[in-house]
Amino acid sequence: MVNIAILGYGTVGSGVFEIINTNQEIVNFKAGKELKIKYVLDLRDFPGTPVENLLVRDMDTIVNDPEVEVVVEAMGGVEPAYTYVKSALLAGKSVCTSNKELVAKHGAELIKIAKDHNRNFLFEASVGGGIPIIRPLNQHITADRICEITGILNGTTNYILTKMDKEGLDFDTVLKEAQALGYAEKDPTADVEGFDACRKIAILASLANGKSVDFEDIYTEGISKISDTDFKYAEKMGRSIKLLGKCKLEDDGIVVSVSPRLLAPSHPLFHVSDVVNGVLIRGNVVGDLVFIGSGAGKLPTASAVVSDVVDAVRHLNVPTTIQWEAEKLEVLDFSKSKKQFFVRVAGQNKEQIENAFGEVTYVDAGIQDELGFITRSMSENSYEDAASKVEGVITRIRIEA
Ligand code: HSE
Repeated sequence: MVNIAILGYGTVGSGVFEIINTNQEIVNFKAGKELKIKYVLDLRDFPGTPVENLLVRDMDTIVNDPEVEVVVEAMGGVEPAYTYVKSALLAGKSVCTSNKELVAKHGAELIKIAKDHNRNFLFEASVGGGIPIIRPLNQHITADRICEITGILNGTTNYILTKMDKEGLDFDTVLKEAQALGYAEKDPTADVEGFDACRKIAILASLANGKSVDFEDIYTEGISKISDTDFKYAEKMGRSIKLLGKCKLEDDGIVVSVSPRLLAPSHPLFHVSDVVNGVLIRGNVVGDLVFIGSGAGKLPTASAVVSDVVDAVRHLNVPTTIQWEAEKLEVLDFSKSKKQFFVRVAGQNKEQIENAFGEVTYVDAGIQDELGFITRSMSENSYEDAASKVEGVITRIRIEA
C-alpha cells in the first residue's frame, strides 16, 4: 500500500480524491499497488464529506509522517505551494502537481531536489490539463531536435475566440457570457492577457531544450484587443484567430512568444475550438505530432495528476529522468523574429501605406473608412518602424505561417 497526501481540496484536489476512489480498481492495477489517501491538507472544513476525517491543517503532519510517500500539490500559486513541495521532496516524498506557476518558476530546482533524493517531481497536469504532453516530451520524443512547439494552451481564451468567430460577437459580450458559465474567472486577467499561456509555453520550451526559459523573457500579448471587426477580416482571408504559445527554432535562435495569430485551415490547430487545447510538436525527424484534448476542468486535470501519482508509485525509489537544468536558455529577442502581419489602418491612404511597407496585399472585408492589408515577411522591429510612418494604425495581428 502507498499512502498519499493531497494539499488543497479545491477543484483539482477534490478531482484527484474522486478519481482515486471511483477508478480505484484500474488505478491500483496500473500502479501495481493499492493507493490510500491518508491526509488532505486544507484550512477549510468539509463536514459530511468523505474527507472530513482526513483533514489536517499543518503541513508538518504530512512532512513528518514517513508513511506518506506521494504528495499531490493542488493548491495553486507559488506560495505556500513552493515551500510545502520543497519540504515534502526534502523529506523524501515524491510530489505530483498541476501548478503551472510553481513549475514555470521553480521547475528545475524542484526536479533536482527530487533527483537528489531518488524521488520524483511530476507535473503532467501543469500544461494542457488532461492532454498527455509533458510525459511525451520527456520520455517519448527523445530522438528529435524539437524545431517548434505551437500550442493553444488556454481554454478560456480559446472559448472566447471561438464564440467571437462563430457568432460574430464582441470580446466583452463573450467574456461576460464565459464568466456566467464559469469558464472564465471573475478576474480573467491571467487568461485573457496571455499570462497563463506564457507559464505553460515556458514549461514546454524548458523541457524541449533542457534549460530554463524564464517566463519573464517571453513576449506575451493577450486577446483583449481582438475585435469582432478583426474576425470579419479573418473570415475574408479564410482564417481564424487563435491565441498561440510558440517556441520556435528560427534562423537566428529560439523564439518564445504568446500572441493572437491568424491561422489557415491547413494548420493542424485550426479546428481546435471552444475550451479544448491543442499542441503541435514539430521534430526534425519525426515530423509533426499533434495532441488535442481537454485543457482544463476538474476531472481532465485531475486525471493527469493521477497519472503522475501512478508513475510516482511505479518509480518510488527511481527518479524518472527529466532533463531540465537550472541554466538559463538564452532566447532570441522577439523583436528580431520575422513573420507577415495583417494590419488595419483608418482612412484610405494607400500611398502612405505602400511607402512605409512596400508591396502589400489588401483585404476587402467591406469595412468603411479603413484599409486592411497583409505585409511581406518582416521582423517585429521592421514592422514597428514601418507602422510608425503610417497614420491611424488600428491594430495588427501576426499571421501564422
Ligand atoms: N484558466 C486555465 C484555462 C485553466 O482556461 O486554460 C487551465 O490551466
